[in-house]
Amino acid sequence: MSQLNPYGRGGLYSDGTPLSAPLAHPVPHQPPPPFLPNNNGPLLQEDGKIYSLVIELMDPNTREAALLELSKKREQYDDLALVLWHSFGIMPALLQEIVSVYPLLSPPNLTAHVSNRVCNALALLQCVASHQETRQLFLNGMSWFIRDLAYTYQLLAAHIPLFLYPFLNTTSKTRPFEYLRLTSLGVIGALVKQNDNTTVIHFLLSTEIIPLCLRIMETGSELSKTVAIFIVQKILLDETGLTYICHTYERFYAVGTVLSNMVNQLVETQAVRLLKHVVRCYLRLSDNLRAREALRACLPDPLRDNTFSVLLKGDMVTKRCLTTLLNNLNEP
Ligand code: TRP
Repeated sequence: MSQLNPYGRGGLYSDGTPLSAPLAHPVPHQPPPPFLPNNNGPLLQEDGKIYSLVIELMDPNTREAALLELSKKREQYDDLALVLWHSFGIMPALLQEIVSVYPLLSPPNLTAHVSNRVCNALALLQCVASHQETRQLFLNGMSWFIRDLAYTYQLLAAHIPLFLYPFLNTTSKTRPFEYLRLTSLGVIGALVKQNDNTTVIHFLLSTEIIPLCLRIMETGSELSKTVAIFIVQKILLDETGLTYICHTYERFYAVGTVLSNMVNQLVETQAVRLLKHVVRCYLRLSDNLRAREALRACLPDPLRDNTFSVLLKGDMVTKRCLTTLLNNLNEP
């Protein structure tokens, strides 16, 4: 295999260790993952209620209940992101919720109660990350910072997504942690889901998001895996992202190994939504000539031999992606 390898190193695959089983049941109060369409209901004429809830976020005694109520209502109120962003002290309050959980991450000490509370704060952050008018500000983390300088000076380097990385970096398999990782991924997913996401992708490439996503793709629940691969797929679809991932053998190897382990798992689990993302990722990798060369040797057999033809029966788009992928690999 080493002769075939355009990266000039040893074989592409090590034997993957068996992957742990995904969680059996999703946890309650989950925010919708970013790949599900938003169910924007009719605008609620409840502005007054929303404002009083936002004010209640400021008071530590009423904050927890307000977080829960607002995160439930966030889909029904289009401009909640703007209200959150522009209300004095709300962003620092949300970040304070996040940071206050860090001491419980290692050793793992997160209760379901605390996890739900911080996930409600994350759901509000996701709302800010999704809104057209606030997501760039969210990424830069600066405008509210300058305004609220007196009491948030400690958050100087506020690229807000970085606040979520400690959550993504946890490995405990308990539900509170799984929920926390899924919700945090949802915030990043909401950022990369936007059409004009070049800035977001370039920012993420300057961080360690890819290894974090790869680990979740190996060990997370099915839902977490789906959001993590969605993020990796969005990075790959970006020109800089593809070049970045294919730039070194180690990077390609890391991504290729995880994708291949996923394929072998999918033979068992038949999780079609995951399979679609996996095929899309491979197809995109095959746009890079060095990666294409490597894939000739290491594309897992189940993608070559019609293993998934029944599973993909009604899905013309993914079937066509798979055919194009195989054609790309057969081209000289
Ligand atoms: N700092 C690592 C690197 O630049 C990040 C990394 C680890 C990575 N695994 C990866 C990046 C896989 C892309 C793909 O290599």
